[in-house]
Amino acid sequence: MNDLHPIHLTVNGRSTRCSVEPRQHLVDFLREDLGLTGSHLGCEHGVCGACTVRLDGQVVRGCLVLAVQADGRAVETVEGVTDSGRLRDLQDAFMRRNALQCGYCTSGMLMAAGELLDTRPDASREEVRVWMSGNYCRCTGYHAIVDAVCDVLASRRAAAVLAQAGSVTSGAGA
Ligand code: FES
Ligand code: FES
Repeated sequence: MNDLHPIHLTVNGRSTRCSVEPRQHLVDFLREDLGLTGSHLGCEHGVCGACTVRLDGQVVRGCLVLAVQADGRAVETVEGVTDSGRLRDLQDAFMRRNALQCGYCTSGMLMAAGELLDTRPDASREEVRVWMSGNYCRCTGYHAIVDAVCDVLASRRAAAVLAQAGSVTSGAGA
């Protein structure tokens, strides 16, 4: 039965109108209807994290959300996040630390790590390990992935300290 529902959402900042089957999952809609293939399908039941996207700013499993549930909401995929440049340092750290092999898990890892960088700037290595444990890597590159995230946390913290010192210095000279 061709039971299509109209949806209107924002995807990576672009207003998008489509008609979807009520049972179509968000990740399938993104990949098949919009050609945004950066989000991957692994387990298809919420375990591996390969399908991770943001919905209204919250990280969600794209295989557990229906496309119709995204109606009226804002979706951001790894394409949008990486195009914005917000994770440039994390992408560089993944390369530097060899934190990807086949790359299948990498988009989900970047999305999960990006949320950690935004919300837990003071995270310890152990907290990074626990946070990232929700994403599976079949190539077992976990240590390198944690190394990469910790590198970025450290460099962002150092930059924040420098920026704060600079503002104090310029304030003192004013
Ligand atoms: S494919 Fe969605 S969590 Fe594995
Ligand atoms: S790099 Fe291959 S699954 Fe993670």
